[in-house]
Amino acid sequence: MPPNSVLFLLVICATIVDSRGFFGIPGDYCSTRTHTCCENRDDDCTVPILGDHLCYCDMFCDRGPDGGNDCCPDFEATCRGKDIQNDQRMDGESCSMDGDTKEKNCEKCTCQNGLWKCDGTACLIQPDILEKLHTGRFSWTARNYSAFWGRSLSDGIKYRLGTLFPERSVQNMNEILIKPRELPEHFDSRDNDRRGLRCPSGSQDSTAFKMTPPYKVSSREEDIQTELMTNGPVQATFVVHEDFFMYAGGVYQHSDLAAQKGASSVAEGYHSVRVLGWGVDHSTGRPIKYWLCANSWGTQWGEDGYFKILRGDNHCEIESFVVGAWGKGSKRRRRFKMRKLRRFRKMFK
Ligand SMILES: *[C@@H]1O[C@H](CO)[C@@H](O)[C@H](O)[C@H]1NC(C)=O
Repeated sequence: MPPNSVLFLLVICATIVDSRGFFGIPGDYCSTRTHTCCENRDDDCTVPILGDHLCYCDMFCDRGPDGGNDCCPDFEATCRGKDIQNDQRMDGESCSMDGDTKEKNCEKCTCQNGLWKCDGTACLIQPDILEKLHTGRFSWTARNYSAFWGRSLSDGIKYRLGTLFPERSVQNMNEILIKPRELPEHFDSRDNDRRGLRCPSGSQDSTAFKMTPPYKVSSREEDIQTELMTNGPVQATFVVHEDFFMYAGGVYQHSDLAAQKGASSVAEGYHSVRVLGWGVDHSTGRPIKYWLCANSWGTQWGEDGYFKILRGDNHCEIESFVVGAWGKGSKRRRRFKMRKLRRFRKMFK
């Protein structure tokens, strides 16, 4: 065999093992182990495969689309399948003491006539949807947040969102005129450090920003981009659907996984976030345009508190009501902006 083919074979093997896992190889692996699957990371939780390779049956083996996958071919069926069944069991299972109660995620279950009966509340973390997002082909990944586990979907909508879509009079605010400019493929306003003023407290690590009254930005993608480049971040109000709570990273696009389960698993509400940039994601092999946004659910959520959402399609109404304001940082900037503002005020007189 010429040396080139050896190299070629090695490359193929490395690809199978490193990025795509051992999918599609027939046989029993995890299911032949005494303790079939292992919790968390367990480097000894392996089975030999393909001669001198090892595949894994621990929960660490599948680290998402970018993190690599060295799970045994039957990992999903043997280990995940079992997890889910455990999770969904209980309803209809026998119990010994009538009147006993138990919690299952956000549901309350009661022992009635020897059988567990759960109340059917839709939960903020829906394990079956989480699982589908883990295994299916999506442009974003999902996570089980312990702060959301055990909470109902309706509480999530009620306590985590808090915007009403603007009334007609506000919606009809005049839009500012934006002079088009050349737009790069990626933009992040955090890269343009605009120094604010020192806080009155003198605190070193915080700065005060002054701003003008807010104004409406048009719903055109290019206008929002130009506004971001020219005047900095804007506020957008969009529809949050049930699956958004489970967002962990990537470019969010609302899935219909909950709708497939029925109307009671679906919920939505309006929410306002800061849009600070944009880009194009190439990780799925097909370019996906996104907005880079900051949420207000803490840094534990999403990508360090930030998320990406599909751009240019008014996805979840993200482009339909965008509000901007001129920041007033340095003196030069202030004078410049005030002139503009005066002109802007005149427009409304
Ligand atoms: C989600 O996390 C909670 C607590 O952190 C845990 O009790 C629960 O079993 C997890 N659920 C799933 C489906 O992973």
